[in-house]
Amino acid sequence: MSGHEMEKTTVSQFLIALVGALIPVLIAAFLIFKLVMGIQATHVASNDPKAAEAEIAQRLKPVGEVAIGEAKPEAGGVVDGKKVYEGLCQACHGTGAAGAPKAGDKGAWGPRIAQGKDTLFKHAIGGFTGKSGTMPAKGGNPALSDAEVKAAVEHMIGLSK
Ligand code: HEC
Repeated sequence: MSGHEMEKTTVSQFLIALVGALIPVLIAAFLIFKLVMGIQATHVASNDPKAAEAEIAQRLKPVGEVAIGEAKPEAGGVVDGKKVYEGLCQACHGTGAAGAPKAGDKGAWGPRIAQGKDTLFKHAIGGFTGKSGTMPAKGGNPALSDAEVKAAVEHMIGLSK
């Protein structure tokens, strides 16, 4: 083998190695480029900054609307007298325990209802000791609001009319 031939072989081997090494690098660079462009494309479809802004606002909007929609029933504060009655008052007023006038007993409730709702509300909220026993303030649960106790009284009156 002459020196010249040797050199030729080395050069072509070098070129093959170079191309072999460059191709994966180029492929990788191309794939990374495509990936980055793809991520941008999924985030914001438009390249125009104004349009992109509008698009982002549009995407955020439904989230804000849902949050407002969920807050509404809480703020409205719908009081369920039946629920309060069944959760607490029923313990005494459902059975007549502790001398409580039984819900639905027209004879026991008639004279009480005749006192007027304001008196019943006052006795239920502030507590009351009468001839048959002691009605604890708010039925014994101070965490109840006045509105909840009133709603429960209304519910009991409804059962006893
Ligand atoms: C620990 C038992 C008990 C619980 C719980 C209870 N009550 Fe009473 N309640 C009584 C008793 C006893 C009386 C009768 C007092 C009397 O007239 O001597 C009474 C009476 C009442 C009266 C009639 C007051 C009047 O002026 O005649 C109302 C109204 C009333 N309760 C509402 C409620 C409501 C509303 C709840 C639930 C938030 C509740 N009670 C929970 C025992 C209870």
